[in-house]
Amino acid sequence: MGRLISLRHPTLRKTAALGLAAIAFLGCTGFQMSGPQSTLLTEGPVARMQTDLFYLTLWVTLFIFVAVGGVLAYAQIKFRAKPGDDDTPPDQSHGHPLIEIGLIVGSTLLLVIIAIPTVKGIAYQEDTPDRENALVVRVTGYQWWFKFEYPELGLVTANEMVIPTNRPIHLELRTIDVIHSFWVPRLAGKKDLMPNRANHMWLQADQPGYYWAQCAEYCGESHANMKFRVVSLDPTDFEAWTKRQLADARTVDATAAPASGAQPAAGTVVRDAGASFDVSPLAHWQAMQVEPAAGSEDAALIARGHELFKTKSCNACHAVKGHDAMGNIGPDLTHFGSRTTVAAAMLDNTSANLHLWLTDPNGVKPGNIMWKQGYVGYNIQLTSADVDALVAYLLSLK
Ligand code: CUA
Repeated sequence: MGRLISLRHPTLRKTAALGLAAIAFLGCTGFQMSGPQSTLLTEGPVARMQTDLFYLTLWVTLFIFVAVGGVLAYAQIKFRAKPGDDDTPPDQSHGHPLIEIGLIVGSTLLLVIIAIPTVKGIAYQEDTPDRENALVVRVTGYQWWFKFEYPELGLVTANEMVIPTNRPIHLELRTIDVIHSFWVPRLAGKKDLMPNRANHMWLQADQPGYYWAQCAEYCGESHANMKFRVVSLDPTDFEAWTKRQLADARTVDATAAPASGAQPAAGTVVRDAGASFDVSPLAHWQAMQVEPAAGSEDAALIARGHELFKTKSCNACHAVKGHDAMGNIGPDLTHFGSRTTVAAAMLDNTSANLHLWLTDPNGVKPGNIMWKQGYVGYNIQLTSADVDALVAYLLSLK
């Protein structure tokens, strides 16, 4: 061996500096990986299997990197040209059969270590366990939102998929237009929604929670704005949610005493779920399910909004069960007021954000059909007072 490797050597100094810079960069950019769409914080068996596989692959490849890099660095330092060496090339030899065979066997072994759990994992994520007991949800991708149908329960919702905990959810993946991709990072890896092809996957949530999700396949102008949420609930809470969803849309009694200044306060516009919301998103979701106290809403304004919903042809594209609205081009809005987000999870569902969405849909989600076909195509025009009434109506739909 001779001399010890010391940091005085320029190659080593450069390598060490580069390594430190990389660590500092990762440290500065929030390496903790705890964001709402982190794939490393798993909350269900499918995501757990996939993350385990990721780490196994990471350790094996890290071992290869260190072993190969170490030998390479050693050889470069040990056999580098030294002052006073002559220029004649060293003796040329053909190699070392034992080392070559050893490397082939070693590499194959490492591949096998990765391949066995990979193949097992693929089979695991393809086969929904306990298929008879699994809840079927049909997911349909639209440019740019998600429809969720529960064929066994006979209900439909949009942009918020609610599921029971500890029960496999069998997802039938469909698309109405282009390729989209269904991705709930903390629950399961992504899978494409393909035109003319029936895809499926499954996922399961360990405990009640609120999960961020995202279309993960480029699908046009507002691909990045095609998000959704998944809410997992205890079976009893899920049953209660199911009952509420099956009911017709809520009707506010217009003969009730007029509320004084009861219109929801126009808060600040929050893009992408603000900090206060993130403290406890599930508690926020639960609060959204509660009907407002009797008399706390402006019944006359809501009634006007309901009327506008028909006269402005909103009902041609949107369904509101029990309210003479049966359109099926846009999201079903029967229980819109109980959802936490607007415009495929682009905005928190607040009156200010809803006002923004109805006033300038193209600014929130460029190219969307409501704007393109409705506002531009059919020249739908809403005054600020119209929007106020529609906002009150939509938020009353618990
Ligand atoms: Cu849908 Cu990207």
